[in-house]
Amino acid sequence: MNSTRQLSQLTVNLSYLKQNILELRKLQPGKELLFMVKADAYGHGLLPIVQFSFEEAGVRSFGVACVKEALTIRKELPELECDIYVFSEVALDIKSNKELYLNYRIFPVISSHTDLDTFLNTYGDQFKFFPLCLKFNTGMNRLGFSCDEVALVAEKIVSRGRSEIFHLMSHFANSSLSLNKNKRNGIQRDRFENIKRKFGELNISFKHSSLANSGALEQGFKSDDDFIRPGLMLYGPSSLSLKHRDLGIWKAKNISKLETTVIKVFPVNKGDPLSYGSTPCPESGQVIILPLGYGDGINSSYQKAKINFGKFEGHVCARVCMDMITILVSKDIEIKEGERLAIWSYKGNSLNDLSIQTKTIPYELVIQLTSRVPRVYMTGEIDLNNENSSS
Ligand SMILES: Cc1ncc(COP(=O)(O)O)c(C=O)c1O
Repeated sequence: MNSTRQLSQLTVNLSYLKQNILELRKLQPGKELLFMVKADAYGHGLLPIVQFSFEEAGVRSFGVACVKEALTIRKELPELECDIYVFSEVALDIKSNKELYLNYRIFPVISSHTDLDTFLNTYGDQFKFFPLCLKFNTGMNRLGFSCDEVALVAEKIVSRGRSEIFHLMSHFANSSLSLNKNKRNGIQRDRFENIKRKFGELNISFKHSSLANSGALEQGFKSDDDFIRPGLMLYGPSSLSLKHRDLGIWKAKNISKLETTVIKVFPVNKGDPLSYGSTPCPESGQVIILPLGYGDGINSSYQKAKINFGKFEGHVCARVCMDMITILVSKDIEIKEGERLAIWSYKGNSLNDLSIQTKTIPYELVIQLTSRVPRVYMTGEIDLNNENSSS
């Protein structure tokens, strides 16, 4: 594995990913994981995450958003005998997509009549023995067949001589809120159970089913579904809303740490002009310049954010530039050029806390890092109390 050190890098500790997967298996015994790895595995790097979780943690199913992501896995990791589901950009009517689904055994998750009709009819018998995956809208109101279309969907399936759905799905819209108290969550759960029952009454079986995403799983969601579909929680942060975090029974490690290097330190007085627009420095202290800016995905949402560097705290005190940020720290801090600092670390709430400071959601923080920030992979335990050391 690559161990090069650059001024800034995202280090991904794959051992922590494995620990998180094992923890989830303990929390949800017997469930199969359909691990969501869309958007470059939520910014952590698609191929290393898929390969590791397949080879070292026994994950056999992965979820992506579009055919291109699925194809990258199939082409770059041809030896992995895993299932890959495409969730949103399905576009079965595009002939070249159809070829890819069939030739690379990629499962389109069908959630519209256009795609269902194309799957069943347009290409003759080409999909006759291909797994049929269906998604119903139980309240998300984004994609999916509506709950009162079960009979119509069943009729279409039967008319082609089929009697089995391979994977039946729905998706929670509010699992970041209380599963038990929020009425919409209860309604979605009941609607999904009804859909399953109705298919049964119409003699259509389903081999697999899934509903739960991170928010539900973090709250210990229980169902008869044989699959769960975690995303964010396996990368570490919580998907529960701030007010509902105490409902979570899930404790994970962040699998990534964003490190950078101090490239300049200088003393400042209150009112000194800093960076573009000459923002007056709010307090006297020291300014440190870090080589990360919006060209790296550290965008203007970081403006005014407090950053906990472990041994001390600083705050972004001037405009974020393309390649640098300006941080104000106390004059008592001992800090030198060349010192390594972590913007976030493996420790519990690090990314969640930063998302509060940047007024965003933890999903965005890693995903928005651009390709200029190298992803470096490692395995093994780390001394979490000494994370900011440059050793
Ligand atoms: C259909 C589907 N299932 C599961 C997930 C996983 O969600 P989360 O990352 O919140 O666990 C997503 C993510 O958006 C999704 O679109």
